[in-house]
Amino acid sequence: MSITEPAYQQCVMPGCAATFALDDVIFRCRQCGALLDVRYDWNRVEVPSSLRAFDTRSTAVGHDPESRANASGVWRFRELLPFAPLEDLVTIGEGKTVLQQADQLAAQIGVDAGRLHLQYEGLNPSGSFKDNGMAAAFTQARRLDRRRVACASTGNTSASMALYAGVTTTKSGRPMEGIVFVGGGKIAYGKLAQALDYGARTVQIKGDFDDCMRLVQQSADRINLYLMNSVNPFRLEGQKTIMYRVLEGLGWEVPDWIVVPGGNLGNSSAFGKAFAELKELGLVDRIPRLAIINAVGANTLYQLFNDRGVRFDCKCKGQKAVADHYRHMAEEGITAKTVASAIEIGRPVNLSKALRSLKMMDGVVRQVSDEAILDAKALIGRYGFGCEPASAASIAGLQVLLREKTISPSDRVVCVLTGHALKDPGVTVAYHTGDRLPAAANANPPITANADIEEIVALLEG
Ligand code: F0G
Repeated sequence: MSITEPAYQQCVMPGCAATFALDDVIFRCRQCGALLDVRYDWNRVEVPSSLRAFDTRSTAVGHDPESRANASGVWRFRELLPFAPLEDLVTIGEGKTVLQQADQLAAQIGVDAGRLHLQYEGLNPSGSFKDNGMAAAFTQARRLDRRRVACASTGNTSASMALYAGVTTTKSGRPMEGIVFVGGGKIAYGKLAQALDYGARTVQIKGDFDDCMRLVQQSADRINLYLMNSVNPFRLEGQKTIMYRVLEGLGWEVPDWIVVPGGNLGNSSAFGKAFAELKELGLVDRIPRLAIINAVGANTLYQLFNDRGVRFDCKCKGQKAVADHYRHMAEEGITAKTVASAIEIGRPVNLSKALRSLKMMDGVVRQVSDEAILDAKALIGRYGFGCEPASAASIAGLQVLLREKTISPSDRVVCVLTGHALKDPGVTVAYHTGDRLPAAANANPPITANADIEEIVALLEG
């Protein structure tokens, strides 16, 4: 079709590149079945000529649409995701995150002082990076006047979607309804607690995330639910802003590396798109390299990229290799299994877009053990604001990349900490109190004492 709007949707496959109207509710290309991007005719958008222009955005809290948008860490950058008018933007104050220069942690793992930064996405309203994407996807749901929204989740997507659904009304003023599919027994309690408390209809499927993902897509087709997983390209528009805030935190300088955990591969997909667009617009002069970190027990991308040589360009060979891999997993009964339950995913839906990001950002993929994840998590907690297990895969991955000298101590590295420390306290307490032998490397077990002041003083002075 011919597109007349400045924003539209487009198939990610260069050989197809079919376009669809912005408000067409589709999640796969009607011609070839590939994923879709939200695209812009930048000639028809007023984009600032320098990223420094965003410095002047007031964060004062007012209730007019412009003040509300400026107070959002997503919509402050609205010219870089210009698919909705100001008055339609949904925000609950997401994206007020922190980029911490982590010198103590850097010293522990062998990075030069001043070169390691942690992007704390756990500081979002629902405690994870997902809120960036939900602000954008709810904006589109609202524009489409959709009432019932649904997702499959390992926990954080459901927590975030449930929160936004609870506080957003449709364009015609009706309350929205959130429906979440989670794997039975697979979700950390902090996240399940949020979905329940925020009032989402929570369906615990007797299966894993991959089953939930398949079933929510089928349900969306059958009973007209609006899908809020990252297969929805509007989600990824919001998640691009994580990279804008990283640049902002670095005084608009581009780092050498972005390191991010990989699960359903939405973030890595969004980050590549963010930098490709900034480069196209002349707002950055170079693109950082990307490292996507899988857990060993959920390493589909690692295996496809490193062992089977799958790349974005070689579509036919790639598709066959992916199909072979999934067949092998099914035949051998291999399912994802890791302590980092957020990234316990065997069939990542954004695979093709993540491969594109790896190409655009000269990226690498590494895998880390559960033990390395938990040890890294304890260090992040010891020297920072903490994070949940999946997030710590980024630091564990950085340690691998430092050891193999892919990243050098003087490189400027940003690790994205995707979720809050309190999301999964069970894993943290088990790490510090557990009876692992030898004891966990960074364990800080509690000390027991009788309710006796002399004993306590002796203990603390000893
Ligand atoms: N970190 C956390 C804390 C997550 O919750 C997720 C994904 C990831 C990393 C992986 O990010 O999918 O963009 O590669 N959680 C999803 C969920 C799948 O359902 O909450 P990704």
